[in-house]
Amino acid sequence: MAVIRMPENFLWGGAVAANQFEGGWKEDGKGPSIADMCTSGSPEHPKLITRTIRSDCLYPSHEASDFYHRYEEDIALMGEMGFKVFRLSINWTRIFPTGMEKEPNEKGLEFYDRVFACCRQHGIEPLVTISHYEMPYALVEKYNGWHSREVIDLFLNYCKVLFERYKDDVKYWLTFNEINAGTNHVLGAMISLGTVQGYEGAGIQAPSDLTVRYQALHHQFVASAKAVIYAHENYPQFRMGNMICFLTRYPFTCDPEDVLACQAEMRRLNWFCSDVMCRGEYPFYAKRFFEEKGIVIKQEQGDTEILKKGTVDFYTHSFYQTNCITTHSGAETSAGNMGGGAKNPYLESSEWGWQIDAKGLRYALNEIYERYHMPVMVVENGLGARDTVELDGSIHDLYRINYLRRHIEEMKEALHDGVDLIGYTPWGCIDLVSASTGEMSKRYGFVYVDKNDDGTGTLNRIRKDSFYWYQKVIRTNGEDL
Ligand code: BG6
Repeated sequence: MAVIRMPENFLWGGAVAANQFEGGWKEDGKGPSIADMCTSGSPEHPKLITRTIRSDCLYPSHEASDFYHRYEEDIALMGEMGFKVFRLSINWTRIFPTGMEKEPNEKGLEFYDRVFACCRQHGIEPLVTISHYEMPYALVEKYNGWHSREVIDLFLNYCKVLFERYKDDVKYWLTFNEINAGTNHVLGAMISLGTVQGYEGAGIQAPSDLTVRYQALHHQFVASAKAVIYAHENYPQFRMGNMICFLTRYPFTCDPEDVLACQAEMRRLNWFCSDVMCRGEYPFYAKRFFEEKGIVIKQEQGDTEILKKGTVDFYTHSFYQTNCITTHSGAETSAGNMGGGAKNPYLESSEWGWQIDAKGLRYALNEIYERYHMPVMVVENGLGARDTVELDGSIHDLYRINYLRRHIEEMKEALHDGVDLIGYTPWGCIDLVSASTGEMSKRYGFVYVDKNDDGTGTLNRIRKDSFYWYQKVIRTNGEDL
């Protein structure tokens, strides 16, 4: 068999999001984001969104993994693993506490100055997500989140501040995390679009009128395109990317009805948003989809040109699991990060019911590259699992190593297929709060954070077995898995 080598400059690293990792939710002038209004939960007890902070609830983002105070230790650990790149998001409300201020919060900006300086010290390149489920809560209450067009300019102002401040620190930018979350009612309307004005209750039951959601998504598309155009015009050194939650779907049977249903799901879930962001226009199948779903959105004059001009330079995505699509009744169902599907009898599942499918990543990478012909980066991947700390303090997470190893093997295959894959940043490289459930016990990290679902714990960091394994993987540029 041919030996497949990773490119010399391959960007190995890890990924986090501010709201799940930073904590310090009120420090140095930070305002509340949508994530700060979300309680902890579990698969059985979905997390709630509350309009005020309730004393009888736990809000996991408030302290999270305390990166705000421990960034030096954390970035040093990343440096020890040999990271070339660290994907992090900037907390919008650290910079603009309500999203509406004229001037940014200097203290918030200074925090990221320190973070980027620390990255530089360890030879790590930051990859910044501008908006990762961190919309200012004030914009939810005032504007119904992205449903209002006004938010576009507020976002653009935020981008301009970041670009100017960090132009010498950051080259790689992603506008919206998993922008396609907005196409999905499960949590998407809440954490991604913020279209839950006046709503209090379980996130998965949040209002999710389709016209409202697709209007909000249109505003995100325009906002992203405007940010890309502005960056290209003013900072030619920047590389601007999108970010899609890639959900590989297979037809459950060879019944042509299943094949067509699967094609429709692939378009709705995966291709719709990236077609707009990579090709610069709504895809041909959008018209019929909108008609059949009764979706009517308003576009302003000039939007078409903005979308056309503001296409991204590279494509990034998350990848965790796959599902099947069927029109037949009676299939067993399985879970997933944006809704489930029919259970695939050939796959195993994680403790949270997400089906593990490394070959689905190779398939996804080929499909993506064939469609867009632009560099691709896998900016999230990993196994959410419970870890046990042994009496001697060690953590033997072979299940995580096996999961990641299988996915890297398939990334190599995709490279061999000819895909221009430029980097890999596994999710939650240091343990953090789960986005879907608000749990701490659903862990992804190479580094364990001593914190429990009830908020107790020392927050101490412990290197897991996967830490040393990943360190070796990076050192050998993926040769020794
Ligand atoms: C992605 C998100 O959907 O999946 C992350 O971008 C999230 O924010 C990750 O944490 C894993 O999902 P979960 O629900 O296990 O945290």
